Amino acid sequence: MWLLPPLLLLLVPGSLAVITGPEEVTGPEQGSLTVQCHYVPGWEPYVKYWCRGAEWSNCNIFVRTTGSEWGVKEDRVSIKDNQTSHTFTVTMEKLRQEDTDTYWCGIEKSGSDHGIPVKVAVGPGSLAVITGPEEASGPERGSLTVQCHYVPEWEPYVKYWCQGAYFSICRVLVRTTGSEQGVKEDRVSIKDDQTSHTFTVTMEKLRPQDADTYWCGIERAGADPAVPVNVAIGPVPVSTEGPTSSPTVSGLHPDGRSLLSSIHFLLLILLKVPLFLSMLSAILWVNRPQQATCGQTRSN
Ligand SMILES: *[C@@H]1O[C@H](CO)[C@@H](O)[C@H](O)[C@H]1NC(C)=O
Repeated sequence: MWLLPPLLLLLVPGSLAVITGPEEVTGPEQGSLTVQCHYVPGWEPYVKYWCRGAEWSNCNIFVRTTGSEWGVKEDRVSIKDNQTSHTFTVTMEKLRQEDTDTYWCGIEKSGSDHGIPVKVAVGPGSLAVITGPEEASGPERGSLTVQCHYVPEWEPYVKYWCQGAYFSICRVLVRTTGSEQGVKEDRVSIKDDQTSHTFTVTMEKLRPQDADTYWCGIERAGADPAVPVNVAIGPVPVSTEGPTSSPTVSGLHPDGRSLLSSIHFLLLILLKVPLFLSMLSAILWVNRPQQATCGQTRSN
């Protein structure tokens, strides 16, 4: 108890300041994550704990210290209090998707405990290394670009672009050399920017049969990290109005339509808008004298 009076003086502005920690922490599925919560001096000998649940008042305590610096481990979660650095560290291992939740760094005391929430998110394993767009599309005969990001430390690895619904048997279309040098194979090119941790794939002269599942992948010993990207090939912008549009007609159709619509637009601006404005002013002009006489009769 002798610890509390000086502490209370320190904490008058807000008791929340007792513990500070990250708002959000993410980790990969099957991997691990670490959360560090700091506390103000004076709370060294108290029990620290890690609690799960959206509500502070009824969260479930996963693991707690004994009030000493001894580490404690329960199943996949461990906690350790460093009373020199006033930090307790929680490690969650063998992460599962269903571990995603709100957790709390807590300090046990008489009365209501101190606690701060920490959001924990568990992403799919491959997401931890590489992320990319779910979908990409480009017009027939046009091109499309896909950017895939990877976490630091994967710079010197070979990145590739692979085609096929099943990753295990997909066909590598182009791969980097592990350097930043761009590589081009046929209609597909790849370039790795190791500063921004992004590699860019460009597919050119697109054909309808290019629509498929592709993979942004990184080559390594063991299972390669990869993410799927669904590639769709759109026609050169065509309206779906005509039910009987043969391929040859649809090839000509778009230009004809855009020409038609631009003519329509010109008509709208040059003819219809002035016509409308002159009609409007005519109506206003007709109405104005009536309103004036109306006002005069009222004032009389
Ligand atoms: C506690 O933290 C201090 C300062 O960061 C460090 O020097 C020390 O080794 C840590 N103690 C333990 C038991 O980890």
